[in-house]
Amino acid sequence: MTARTLFLLPGDGIGPEAMNEVRKIISYMNEDLGSGFVLDEGLVGGSAYDAHGVAISEEDMAKALAADAVLFGAVGGPKWDDVPYEVRPEAGLLRLRKDLELFANLRPAICYPALASASSLKPELVEGLDILIVRELTGGVYFGEPKTITDLGNGQKRAIDTQVYDTYEIERISSVAFELARTRKNAVCSMEKRNVMKSGVLWNQVVTETHKAKYADVALSHMLADAGGMQLVRAPKQFDVIVTDNLFGDMLSDVAAMLTGSLGMLPSASLGAPDAKTGKRKALYEPVHGSAPDIAGKGLANPIAMIASFAMCLRYSFGEVAQADALEKAIATVLDKGIRTGDIMGEGCRQVGTVEMGDAILAEFKALLQ
Ligand code: IPM
Ligand code: MG
Repeated sequence: MTARTLFLLPGDGIGPEAMNEVRKIISYMNEDLGSGFVLDEGLVGGSAYDAHGVAISEEDMAKALAADAVLFGAVGGPKWDDVPYEVRPEAGLLRLRKDLELFANLRPAICYPALASASSLKPELVEGLDILIVRELTGGVYFGEPKTITDLGNGQKRAIDTQVYDTYEIERISSVAFELARTRKNAVCSMEKRNVMKSGVLWNQVVTETHKAKYADVALSHMLADAGGMQLVRAPKQFDVIVTDNLFGDMLSDVAAMLTGSLGMLPSASLGAPDAKTGKRKALYEPVHGSAPDIAGKGLANPIAMIASFAMCLRYSFGEVAQADALEKAIATVLDKGIRTGDIMGEGCRQVGTVEMGDAILAEFKALLQ
């Protein structure tokens, strides 16, 4: 089997602890299944800043660009609150997204049956929830220029961020959403603020035209993003696929995460366009949760989002659908058995730490693949 290269960037806070649990799964797959994963590892975020004075080194950027897939943990923490803006921990993640051209961010929010009671919403509202947020990831206000703070000289400063989208960016992200909807319940809801923003007007137009031209079989609806946020907590099961811009996607995916019980449950995949020659997409997989500095290093972190991100990697980068299904099933089974980390602890359940949760999932995964 040809080598499959994985570049690991555990990052800061709970990132390394969560990544260790994925490493165990990869070792098992290499040893017992002959999966042929070749691992390399680098630094990103605060840990890269401490070592190299930047949020990611050029050497590690080159490795990320060359790898079949990047597995990313988390970045940031109070230790780096005062470092210069250009080299803040988040800059490493943003550079990876931009330079690898990972324009499509897939954030599935699935409520495992066993966790319906862990959600802050009523169990009947979230039981069986299965939505997919498709977030545009390389454009919008995150990267638009100018992006400045100017001293106006009169005791005032002016801060500018620029929200900007070109037709092709909206076309390609909405195409991803429509394609994915066809593999699900065949419905897309597009969210923007066309009542206030020109970028929202164009977004709405381009999504509508793309739908008409190529995806008329998919049910399309539009919502203003604020109303969309409200509907997500009022009746989340009305949605199948949500497609939205970078900033709204950031916010709405945190909201969606909480519907599933905990931010510690949400994986994500960030994908580029298929290569014209090889058909391969550049890809980075990361849990939606952050570095959680308050619990870092204590062995308390929930590794499920990181493990589920690796399941997405198996599915989208390596086409290992059966293995991805098995890993997701293993997570569900462990939850059914009442094994919980602190963030999703429920009555009558058994609380475990990061390592024990990882071990339990690996044991189920092995049992399923035997
Ligand atoms: C996310 C995070 C990032 C973002 C941060 C860490 C830059 O919140 O992936 O949702 O804002 O995109
Ligand atoms: Mg976020």
